[in-house]
Amino acid sequence: MNWDHIWIDVNIATMDKQSASPYGVINDAAIAVKDDKIAWIGARADLPEFDVLATPVYRGKGKWITPGLIDAHTHLVFAGSRANEFEQRLQGASYQDIANAGGGIISTVKACREADEQTLFDLGRKRLNALAKEGVTTVEIKSGYGLDTDTELKLLRVAKTLGQHHHVDVKTTFLGAHAIPPEYQGQTDDYVELVINDMLPKVIENNLADAVDVFCEGIAFNLQQTKQVLTAAKNAGLAIKLHAEQLSNIGGSELAAKMGALSVDHIEYLDENGVKALSQNGTCAVLLPGAFYFLRETQHPPIELLRQYKVPMVVASDFNPGSSPICSTLLMLNMACTLFKLTPEEALKGVTINAAKALGLAEQVGQLTVGMQADFCLWDISSPAELAYIYGVNPCEQVIKAGKIIAQ
Ligand code: NIG
Ligand code: FE
Repeated sequence: MNWDHIWIDVNIATMDKQSASPYGVINDAAIAVKDDKIAWIGARADLPEFDVLATPVYRGKGKWITPGLIDAHTHLVFAGSRANEFEQRLQGASYQDIANAGGGIISTVKACREADEQTLFDLGRKRLNALAKEGVTTVEIKSGYGLDTDTELKLLRVAKTLGQHHHVDVKTTFLGAHAIPPEYQGQTDDYVELVINDMLPKVIENNLADAVDVFCEGIAFNLQQTKQVLTAAKNAGLAIKLHAEQLSNIGGSELAAKMGALSVDHIEYLDENGVKALSQNGTCAVLLPGAFYFLRETQHPPIELLRQYKVPMVVASDFNPGSSPICSTLLMLNMACTLFKLTPEEALKGVTINAAKALGLAEQVGQLTVGMQADFCLWDISSPAELAYIYGVNPCEQVIKAGKIIAQ
């Protein structure tokens, strides 16, 4: 066998969906990499002969390997800080009060319009580095803090450039319909027209986005407006997804699922009809425990129904300056378990196999099987549940991205 690298004396949580064992565990395993792919994986006892003199062998000393983590929902390119709003909320103002008074998303929009690309890139790189150190190998980044054509394109360009300069793969999402900008107050339909007829064509022309998202909510875009944006995106061949049922239930998830959305995200207020629609259309449910925690929400997403209808559950950071200023995918595993009562295995699926599905990458990443992209991490833990259980001592020892060992 002619491999580039091999790891032995490791336990592997493959997250292989065909495996009968929890986490797809293979104890005392080995994994070999050729080029950017997994060339062999299995029990060490079954390892075929290979050229030991020509192949670097890494001994894991009983540590654990998992797929590289995937954060399927972030807004990590932004400027400015909203610490003042954090203080206001602690004095009694609600997230909606602040948004209605022209703060919230709009205050970050002002900061992003003023910031140049280099500043946004530098801020984004720091955040991407923080995620990467905790084993993240793929991340989704949304625009949505520009709300004018130039700034939306600027944010997407920065996100794309980050992906080109970093080992972490970046998938970009155009979220022009995130909020109504000040210059369109009271004219939401006109703003939607700008999103569809000016921003979207330029996003497509410059190949800046893999998907399109909308914030479908009482304080943002209604069902009709959401449908218009998602239809335009679909017609242009882009994937669609939705911020839905975060603060109320206005039926966005059902609409998006019926239109073939990859995912609906937040979904605290999702009801059984909505869950059925996800199940029937193969739409993932993206849970964002960081936003739930930071906004001190009390309405829990319908986890039991999602289980019952076998909807793939995804766990993501929603990293952003307003509702989830928490730049850690790993911490989300803990929060998904403590706040939403996911099992540690469900939580880990939510940042691996299911997160890959939510980004349309199910055939490439998220599971460790032969032929998949060699994105994986070596962790100093004694069981996979420890990734969700303990937080604060980073157990990530090594990251392998597309077959290359990334210096930590
Ligand atoms: O995912 N829900 C809408 N958008 C973001 C919040 C953005 C902000 O407050 O800046 C979210 O929670
Ligand atoms: Fe979000």
